[in-house]
Amino acid sequence: MAKIKTSFFCQNCGAQHAKWMGQCTTCNEWNTIVEEVIQKEEKRTWKQSTTAKPVSRPLKIDEIQLNPEERIATKNTELDTVLGGGLVKGSVTLLGGEPGIGKSTLLLQIALNIPHKVLYVSGEESQSQIKMRADRVQTNNSNCLILTETNTQQIFKHIEEVAPDVLVIDSIQTLHTNAIEASPGSVSQIRETSAELIKFAKETATPVLLIGHINKEGHIAGPKILEHMVDVVLQFEGDRNHTYRILRSQKNRFGSTAELGIYEMLSDGLREVSNPSEILISKKDADLSGTAIASTLEGVRPLMIEIQALVSTAVYGTPQRSTTGYNLKRLHMILAVLEKRAGFKLGAKDVFLNITGGIHVDDPAIDLAVVAAILSSNQDLAISPQVCFAAEVGLAGEIRPVSKIDQRIIEAEKLGYKTFVASKYNKISSTKHSIRLILVGKIEEAFATLFA
Ligand code: TYD
Ligand code: MG
Repeated sequence: MAKIKTSFFCQNCGAQHAKWMGQCTTCNEWNTIVEEVIQKEEKRTWKQSTTAKPVSRPLKIDEIQLNPEERIATKNTELDTVLGGGLVKGSVTLLGGEPGIGKSTLLLQIALNIPHKVLYVSGEESQSQIKMRADRVQTNNSNCLILTETNTQQIFKHIEEVAPDVLVIDSIQTLHTNAIEASPGSVSQIRETSAELIKFAKETATPVLLIGHINKEGHIAGPKILEHMVDVVLQFEGDRNHTYRILRSQKNRFGSTAELGIYEMLSDGLREVSNPSEILISKKDADLSGTAIASTLEGVRPLMIEIQALVSTAVYGTPQRSTTGYNLKRLHMILAVLEKRAGFKLGAKDVFLNITGGIHVDDPAIDLAVVAAILSSNQDLAISPQVCFAAEVGLAGEIRPVSKIDQRIIEAEKLGYKTFVASKYNKISSTKHSIRLILVGKIEEAFATLFA
């Protein structure tokens, strides 16, 4: 037996340190360093019986053979769209999300619907629990095998026997490998087990789907390098009090990350929502003045937010300006621009601005929606809830371009909006959008069309 070896790992970035420290010197996070036991560093391998593999050799780019039929369609349109056309053979996809959001349900439904042999490995639930869930979603597939196991060496033994076309692991945090001694869920176990699974996927061209837990900041638990190691990172999100779930791609080596999929969690499983405007129509009142929808970016992900403004005549001497979720200085600037460049007399008015949902937004792309909400309240004219805005407002009253406009347009289109107002200086690469685009250069132009 080898001597027990321990090392210190940062739970945030996965960096290894020689001794314990309060702050990680790599990512500067505090209190993230944990001691972990590593007994014997065995070579990462997924097959015990393998002898020396042929080593790869350098090839000229035109010598590399492309396999034309390299994607496996999952028969789940939303997932296939997000993946860019199905599971790529030999790819590893990581699905993250809050507990109880429906990750296991989604992957079990896919395992039961896909017309291929699937091995669904669960370290979280018993076979009968999974059977109950399968009965609930009312799908059956004799090609889907369920295994409850957490040891990767055992899993690989079963894989050699079963030879599945697709492998599902629920979840990466429950797995452990014999190669190291650290406990399941620790940074080193996650790193080793996923390295073994990635090696397996690449060597056998089998697509692997991994479920990953997230930590309290909303990131996938474990080392950040896990997200670098896998090919696709998907995020399943939604409000637990609502039934809608959104599947987004945060990283995709084989497709765009601009796509998203929408599901509804019903009592018999997840339903694909192909017409997302049904979500919006139910909760919008068409005749309210003072609200406008903005398209903003959360990191790399587009998000629709509602902006509410209330403009009223000031009853006290000094007009009040107050904001929730928006920079007050920026509101002052926008009011000055409206007064000076567009001739709206707001100097003697109280202006209240609120971003609904309690979020704070710094993205300047919501400026135009702020202007729209203020003018809508001031004129007491409602803006259709099917219009959304994404543009910055400059000091000269010009409408300025914003980043990632195509991603924002795709999201708006997918969410069922009919009109998208943006700057005419924005380069929109794709011309095949079905949403109506209003491209404007000045505030007046935008509102001539909107309030006409
Ligand atoms: P689950 O897939 O276990 O979540 P995760 O794996 O992300 O932790 O989903 C559990 C929730 O989904 C649970 O609260 C019950 C609900 N649910 C339904 O509403 N309908 C269903 O058909 C199923 C299977 C689950
Ligand atoms: Mg689960």
